[in-house]
Amino acid sequence: MSSSTRTILELAEQYLMQTGRRLPVTFVRGNGCRIYDESGREYLDLVAGIAVNLLGHAHPDVVRAVSAQAGALIHTSNLYFTQPQIDLARRLVELSFPSRVFFCNSGAEANEAAIKLARKWGARNRDGAFEIITTTGSFHGRTLATITAGGQPKYSDPFQPLPDGFVHVAFNDAAAIESATTDKTVAVMLEPVMGEIGIIPAAPGYLKRVREWCDSHNLLLILDEVQTGLGRTGKWFAHQHAGITPDVMTLAKGLGGGVPIGACLANPRADVFEPGDHGSTFGGNPLACTAALAVLHVIERDSLVGHAAEMGELLRDAIKDLGAKDLRGLGLMQAFEFEAPKAKQFQLGCLEAGLIVNAVDDHSIRLVPPLIITGQEIDRAHALMAKVAG
Ligand SMILES: Cc1ncc(COP(=O)(O)O)c(C=O)c1O
Repeated sequence: MSSSTRTILELAEQYLMQTGRRLPVTFVRGNGCRIYDESGREYLDLVAGIAVNLLGHAHPDVVRAVSAQAGALIHTSNLYFTQPQIDLARRLVELSFPSRVFFCNSGAEANEAAIKLARKWGARNRDGAFEIITTTGSFHGRTLATITAGGQPKYSDPFQPLPDGFVHVAFNDAAAIESATTDKTVAVMLEPVMGEIGIIPAAPGYLKRVREWCDSHNLLLILDEVQTGLGRTGKWFAHQHAGITPDVMTLAKGLGGGVPIGACLANPRADVFEPGDHGSTFGGNPLACTAALAVLHVIERDSLVGHAAEMGELLRDAIKDLGAKDLRGLGLMQAFEFEAPKAKQFQLGCLEAGLIVNAVDDHSIRLVPPLIITGQEIDRAHALMAKVAG
């Protein structure tokens, strides 16, 4: 650990709330899939700010667009119109399904919007039904409602009492959703690939059966595509693998290429928000929307959705070759497990070797690299991981 990282550790302990554990490295700049610490050391980045930097670091199109917009207009609030916000909403709708968009600043906020929308929809359309069925192990953010929606008590238990109205069932078990449905149920909320818990894709047929159940029982289907959206899984949106469309979809992470932005899309059936129902000071400001428009433009121009599918296969083969256990994922969202609890040690070993990977728990490693990753970079990552794994 460098002396300046040691100083930062001490300062961080003094001045930052200790909400998470950080690795002992301080990054100062990036370029593509490479990121550099304060001593100039280079690391190959297979985490991309936790599935955020879809175009890697300092992508010239994003830098150019954000710089120009920063010099013109950064923020206005939502008391007024700005062109980038409307352009972005239109682009997202064109890429997904007929809907309208609410902009916010993060995944948790996008899911809060979806939850509020479902509650209002239930008041209007299902006799005040308000319960949302979600899955054990899911992750939807860190606000009070979203830790309650998420099925991981370690995130919600310290913050009792929690809001009412969330029922948890096992993931990939459509029958469990059917049995948990009551007159109080208003919606089912799912991640098409559970991300934070360690990459668990929906089983074949699962999303389709849940969609049919929601249709036949007048429920909303909310898909949290905060981590899976925008090409990461080898389709623009992960639900497209299942040939279904949600009523409500949430996005964030990769949308702004690192500039914070979240979005909640709702189809005409679900879109019951009226003026005054919801809002955000910063949500969809011109800077964030311009960044997102640049990201979407480059993904499309450079055919990065297909590239992600191809690179996902290569990454999968590279991991297979490590002899890892329980390999799972979709596109450039892959995970594997070690039999022994050595994932954190592996993560540190990789960092020392110049490679960024993410240990989601003691056993599992998650890889969510930028969509621009190349075959040569995957070969390099493979060589480094093989060396560290021994
Ligand atoms: C599926 C999913 N939903 C929501 C969130 C929360 O997003 P944010 O941290 O931007 O609030 C995350 C973050 O990991 C996520 O993976």
